[in-house]
Amino acid sequence: MNIPIPKSNQGVEPIRGAESGHNRLPLDAEPLLTPEFIQSLANQMYQSTPESLILPSSPTGNSVPTDFPMRPSAPSGSSPVNSGSPLSPSDEEGLTAIARSLYDQMQSADLDPRLGKALKQLGSPERSSNLAQPTHSESKATAQGTTSPLYPAANQPSFYFLQDPSSASQLSPTVVDTRGLTEAAVSRTTLPNLDLPNLELTRQAQFTEFPQTDLSSATQAPEVQNLRSPGRASSSRNGTAGDSGIFEVEVIRRDFPILHQQVNGRPLIWFDNAATTQKPYAVIDSLSRFYERDNSNIHRAAHTLAARATDSYESAREKVQRFLGAGDASEIVFVRGTTEAINLVTQSYGRKFLRAGDEIILSTLEHHANIVPWQMLAQETGAVLKVIPINDRGEILMDEYSRLLGPRTRFVAVTQVSNSLGTILPVAEITHLAHRHGAKVLIDGAQAVSHMPVDVQAIDCDFYVFSGHKLFAPSGIGVLYAKAELLEAMPPWQGGGSMIRHVTFEETVYSDPPAKFEAGTPNIADAVGLGAAIDYITRLGLSNIERYEHNLTDYATEQLSHIPGLRLIGTAAHKVSVVSFVLDGIPTEQVGQRLAQEGIAVRAGHHCAQPSLRHFGLTMSVRPSLAFYNTQGEVDRLVEVIKTLRYR
Ligand code: ALA
Repeated sequence: MNIPIPKSNQGVEPIRGAESGHNRLPLDAEPLLTPEFIQSLANQMYQSTPESLILPSSPTGNSVPTDFPMRPSAPSGSSPVNSGSPLSPSDEEGLTAIARSLYDQMQSADLDPRLGKALKQLGSPERSSNLAQPTHSESKATAQGTTSPLYPAANQPSFYFLQDPSSASQLSPTVVDTRGLTEAAVSRTTLPNLDLPNLELTRQAQFTEFPQTDLSSATQAPEVQNLRSPGRASSSRNGTAGDSGIFEVEVIRRDFPILHQQVNGRPLIWFDNAATTQKPYAVIDSLSRFYERDNSNIHRAAHTLAARATDSYESAREKVQRFLGAGDASEIVFVRGTTEAINLVTQSYGRKFLRAGDEIILSTLEHHANIVPWQMLAQETGAVLKVIPINDRGEILMDEYSRLLGPRTRFVAVTQVSNSLGTILPVAEITHLAHRHGAKVLIDGAQAVSHMPVDVQAIDCDFYVFSGHKLFAPSGIGVLYAKAELLEAMPPWQGGGSMIRHVTFEETVYSDPPAKFEAGTPNIADAVGLGAAIDYITRLGLSNIERYEHNLTDYATEQLSHIPGLRLIGTAAHKVSVVSFVLDGIPTEQVGQRLAQEGIAVRAGHHCAQPSLRHFGLTMSVRPSLAFYNTQGEVDRLVEVIKTLRYR
């Protein structure tokens, strides 16, 4: 930052009467510093990033030494503060020297006393000599108004101290959060002795790679659930869970701001994760960052922001590729979600390759999104749907599946995890058997990707689909994975811009996959958000998540099973994170409403999977569905509330 000099200062001899070796102006010196100049200086200092500050030069051309003795003998017409070199991490003394210089000159300057007070705070020898990194306690003291008034609250203009310094101590600046991002910024800032506004630090941090410092020692204990400002956890950023294998749920919860609120006067308990998951700061911030810095359509060559947006979007695609274990990023097509992905497959692959009499196998456990599009295709083509039955635990019957496979089987489309019951299906085995009959396989991963590692090449499925919003990413973004040769063979399902190579009124030549399937402006920001969610999940470690959730689900199942009149729906040997149930004599909606009154969010209904419930003679169930940020204490609370219902 070049700090411009007000016109009134330009061309003025900087110091009259200054003598080498003295650090005070002679008493008769004409004050060089006007309030306007100092205000301008102060404002710009506070608004700048540390790296961009410009230091004055010493007479020898070096940075100002710590014991800055006098105003630099800048040439006439220049300023002591607009010449010199950029502030480097080792130049912190220089900044203090500026402050001290201002302070010294204030001793003789007949300026507004409020300004004098502020400058004394800024340049007092105590502050100047205290060059240590600001500590949390210092920040706290500041927050309490016991030290510097030069610490604007985030919502205050940075120059408020020049307007009304007396009010400064009454303000409550945001305390530097030493546990999360803000500390990350503090730890790298080069302005150790000036209390930069938190707002600036936070915003700067958003544009900064997280340092790999271990911040976990600052972990707040369980009172983190105190519903006050949760701060930001560091675990996910420094890989606590992934590295140690210990899942510090109380720390991780702090990455999810939405969890720290009261609903109906009770702490929110989010047990509706099968419907959608909550978003960590890493995802929320990635959206802000994209819109604040990179937003553009994705036409790489056009200009800088277009290049950035394109790179971010394609980088997200590569993250998805690695997340799924796909062989190539071109096998990843961005769509709105699971439903759109399945419709793309039925409308593109299905219409082209399926004929009357061809057989499509689904399972009883399917979500409506993996039933209705196939029904529509069957109606259109004359293909026939076959359904794998389930047993009373909610497991598919593999023998029956084997019997359904035959020479007419063209397609098998099954879920990896049942959204209504939590059953995990043996998708690799299902795929293997289907391939023996020459059928293609689609796996609906919507309920799986947030709970277990997935490797599409190990499964060997032909298509794999999921939604970002079930993976802690934004809604409106989802993924279709398909083997490269299939995407090559499939026609586009929507036409428009971005999916073409060449257009005339006679003919259009399409782009290669995946662009061929991404007509129009895609959901760029949310794809970037999905990439951030994948980064986040990867740092936590899906194996850690799987282990933690497995234990929590077992615990919830055990606790609920002791409640008289409660019937668990879906008790598969292999299941994840869903504990569906009904209560004798109490309508499902009523259970859902009662839980909602207590701040507990569950889905009570048919879960868009009516056939799966129908097997149990039900049209609805209550469905708590867990995620890695849920706790045993929350399960206990759920059980407690259900018991009050039961024994009324
Ligand atoms: N598929 C979502 C659910 O299971 C909506 O609730």
